[in-house]
Amino acid sequence: MARLSVCISALLAGFSTAKYIVPGGRWHDTDGNLVNAHAGCVTVDKDTGKFWLFGEYKVEGQTEGGGVSVYSSDDLATWESHGLALAPVEGHPYISPSHIIQRPKVVYSEVSDEYHMWWHADNSTYGLLLQGFARSPNISGPYTFESATAPLGNWSQDFGIFTDYKDGRSYALYSNGDRQEGRDVYLTAYNDDTTALDKVIHRFEKYDLEAPTIVQTDKSYYALMSHKTGYRPNNVVAFRADSLAGPWSQPFMVAPLNTRTFNSQSGFTLTIKGKKKTAYLYLGDQWDSNSLWESRYIWLPMEIGDREKTLSLVWNDVYDLDVKTGEWSAVKGKTYYAADAKTTGAAFKQEANFASKGVIATGIYGNDSTVTFEGVEGSGKPQWVSFYYQNTDDMGFGDQPGGTPDRIGGAWQLRRIASVVVNGNEQKVETLFQRDTHKGIILSTPLLLALDKGKENTITVGGLWNGFDYKGADLDRIVVYPPETDHKKH
Ligand SMILES: *[C@@H]1O[C@H](CO)[C@@H](O)[C@H](O)[C@H]1NC(C)=O
Ligand SMILES: *[C@@H]1O[C@H](CO)[C@@H](O)[C@H](O)[C@H]1NC(C)=O
Ligand SMILES: *[C@@H]1O[C@H](CO)[C@@H](O)[C@H](O)[C@H]1NC(C)=O
Ligand SMILES: *[C@@H]1O[C@H](CO)[C@@H](O)[C@H](O)[C@H]1NC(C)=O
Repeated sequence: MARLSVCISALLAGFSTAKYIVPGGRWHDTDGNLVNAHAGCVTVDKDTGKFWLFGEYKVEGQTEGGGVSVYSSDDLATWESHGLALAPVEGHPYISPSHIIQRPKVVYSEVSDEYHMWWHADNSTYGLLLQGFARSPNISGPYTFESATAPLGNWSQDFGIFTDYKDGRSYALYSNGDRQEGRDVYLTAYNDDTTALDKVIHRFEKYDLEAPTIVQTDKSYYALMSHKTGYRPNNVVAFRADSLAGPWSQPFMVAPLNTRTFNSQSGFTLTIKGKKKTAYLYLGDQWDSNSLWESRYIWLPMEIGDREKTLSLVWNDVYDLDVKTGEWSAVKGKTYYAADAKTTGAAFKQEANFASKGVIATGIYGNDSTVTFEGVEGSGKPQWVSFYYQNTDDMGFGDQPGGTPDRIGGAWQLRRIASVVVNGNEQKVETLFQRDTHKGIILSTPLLLALDKGKENTITVGGLWNGFDYKGADLDRIVVYPPETDHKKH
């Protein structure tokens, strides 16, 4: 019966479609603006089951001071903006536009029947190291500032919250800063009301990690954290335990080595107990220090083997998650190889035993040394295209002062920028950010492109200015995915 009514309402809506989740893409909200909610959390509305995304709102050209934004969604792919849940207040001692309001987390408190927001509260020089607290009767806010306190007297930097589904208790996770006496990550229980911290449950001592989050299965807890390399991604690690108090395992990597966790930082995980399966999602941030407000989201399913005591992120360019059943599947695309593409100018194909068909296209520069994929099949509707590339800058930039690759004191560049032109239409140049990979490591990054219907499309990739040079990254292949509008919601 319930199923029938769902189908009928889908028919009434005329053209009800499910959206895909596309890690690293430019995500737009229902107003057409970039989704701007970084290092936050997704909280489920206890009454409606709706997903609410909270995060740091980054103002263009600014690092901090934007407050906490909030968006809602029924499918984790379509996001409606509800503005700021916590707006900065001019002259306020803790939430003025010059203060740091980072890593906001929101939980429901049954005791007071309201939503509680906690975050890393600080001044602009990270001299306070406090936890901020605000509350609202409505999940969407606005949230009213309550306090900023030192957790049980200690310092608190990167902040996370975990709620145990077995008893509903929430826990704060926080690194106690970068100074030598700190460098721990604390796991501390809240009181029943989630209004204050109660007692330390565990201390991850001297690992010097940050961006903590915990994911829970029926048998285990996995605590994920990143190393401390600022906005530059690194290898996120996880610890496993049977109980929150430990003993906790040694840390282990959660993604293939040298992918820097698919160019992302940990921060939150979301568990969806669906009708058929439980989906464990890693909600990571792909920071862009050149342009923080354009930072992206790397949301990926996690594969957890409780028997083997393993957890790993599963890369998908594009995937389809059914939040009702908990099932997800990779969307299948069509691949076109650089080995079969045309090059112009100084661009050429070079032997690369790690690349598809043993070659990679390199020397992509400006608009006269390009690579063109021909005979690309399109649908006439916008579709995601993933560009598999290698960026060997290794987070340095070759000929810049102090900026040679992977070396001490390197000038961290983070990305090259490629131009992408469809069917030779140079009036419409798309910009493709290609973050550092490693030598021999190929990662992908997506763009939503408008291809003509039919099999005669061309996609030409050149190099755009990234602040240093006009170099595009080396190309391995592209994968063209079917449009979202062809995919009917179940
Ligand atoms: C931040 O707080 C610390 C500790 O009170 C203080 O030493 C520092 O000057 C403050 N920074 C700013 C920018 O106010
Ligand atoms: C909460 O939402 C309800 C319904 O939308 C509204 O009537 C009420 O004023 C809101 N409360 C606050 C504090 O914003
Ligand atoms: C915070 O905890 C560390 C150990 O984790 C300790 O050395 C330090 O003194 C504590 N700081 C405060 C302000 O309590
Ligand atoms: C191509 O590059 C030249 C400089 O090398 C520049 O003047 C021109 O505007 C570029 N054209 C396009 C379409 O980007």
